[in-house]
Amino acid sequence: MKVGVVGATGEVGRTFLKLFEEYKLINEISELRLFASERSQGQEIEVGFKRYTVEKLQKENMKEKFDYLFFSAGASVSKRFAPIAQKSGNVVIDNSSQFRMDETIPLVVPEINAELLKNYKGIIANPNCSTIQMVLALNGIHRELGLKEIVVSTYQAVSGAGNKGIIELLNQEKGINEVKHFPRVIKNNVIPLIGEKKENGSTFEEEKMINETRKIFSDKEMKIFPTTVRVPVLYGHSESIFFRTKLDFSVDEIIKLVESTPNVEYNEDKITPIEVAGSDITFVSRIRKVEEKTFLMWVVADNIRVGAATNAIRILQKHRELN
Ligand SMILES: NC(=O)c1ccc[n+]([C@@H]2O[C@H](COP(=O)([O-])OP(=O)(O)OC[C@H]3O[C@@H](n4cnc5c(N)ncnc54)[C@H](OP(=O)(O)O)[C@@H]3O)[C@@H](O)[C@H]2O)c1
Repeated sequence: MKVGVVGATGEVGRTFLKLFEEYKLINEISELRLFASERSQGQEIEVGFKRYTVEKLQKENMKEKFDYLFFSAGASVSKRFAPIAQKSGNVVIDNSSQFRMDETIPLVVPEINAELLKNYKGIIANPNCSTIQMVLALNGIHRELGLKEIVVSTYQAVSGAGNKGIIELLNQEKGINEVKHFPRVIKNNVIPLIGEKKENGSTFEEEKMINETRKIFSDKEMKIFPTTVRVPVLYGHSESIFFRTKLDFSVDEIIKLVESTPNVEYNEDKITPIEVAGSDITFVSRIRKVEEKTFLMWVVADNIRVGAATNAIRILQKHRELN
């Protein structure tokens, strides 16, 4: 299998490489190519006891035949290069927001809608990190009881903004009080603004959670009200979710439905990001029934793994299985 990683030096890109080893995929990869910007050209990265040299991404590379190409270099890079790779007959698993809402492109969380991968070749979109853990936690409930309304507040780690986000928090913790990447100081603070603000007052991150959830659940009517918040945590997003269902159930039955989705666990011990960082499981806890057909829950997951790289690796595995 020939595999390429575009954005290999980034937070998500480096996690792909770790997962190739952890999931033993590296043994099945006969050729691995790593791409990034000119800044990283020539850098060496070790994967599975072999050293690989990072290449500067160029159009010509995308015209080569790959079995799978992972993209995690931002929307503008995906916009420019992924269609070239697609035209050359390659399967592209894209982590950026560029193609997620394109009706011709599947937006996939394999535990929920893997059937979209059957007989499909081309660009496959990976959803936003906050959306992935939310839909995984709610999937079983939605299938059985029908979700009417979701109100969600997120507590998103700085790694969600890539290397730059981590460096900004670590610098501020060292006393370098430069505010470059986030709209306010993030050390000892919370910032209720992720992504640009739209005319209606919502941010792009909030819009993503609404639109992507509706697309994944194939329900254009579902009411979703998110507030996305950056917190001074390195790895792991948390979410407080209030939801209303069409049918009524007990908390015990809700727990069973939560756990009916693979890779989702109900666990009252794993409630903080520090406890879940490095795991490929979405952890749900603190389920409360507040009135008829109305519940609250807490969800935590590693944003770089569950919210990006692991989902993409699971897409590859499922795509190979189905085709
Ligand atoms: N972090 C998350 O939790 C998360 C979750 C879901 C989706 N995503 C998405 O995944 C993508 C990457 O995120 P990240 O967190 O890994 O970001 P990151 O740490 O900032 O890494 C960005 C990567 O893109 C490369 N890159 C930037 N400009 C490029 C160009 N012009 N040509 C080729 N490569 C270029 C960088 O290479 P250099 O090292 O050479 O600069 C680096 O490898 C983004 O689209 C992001 O929205 C991230």
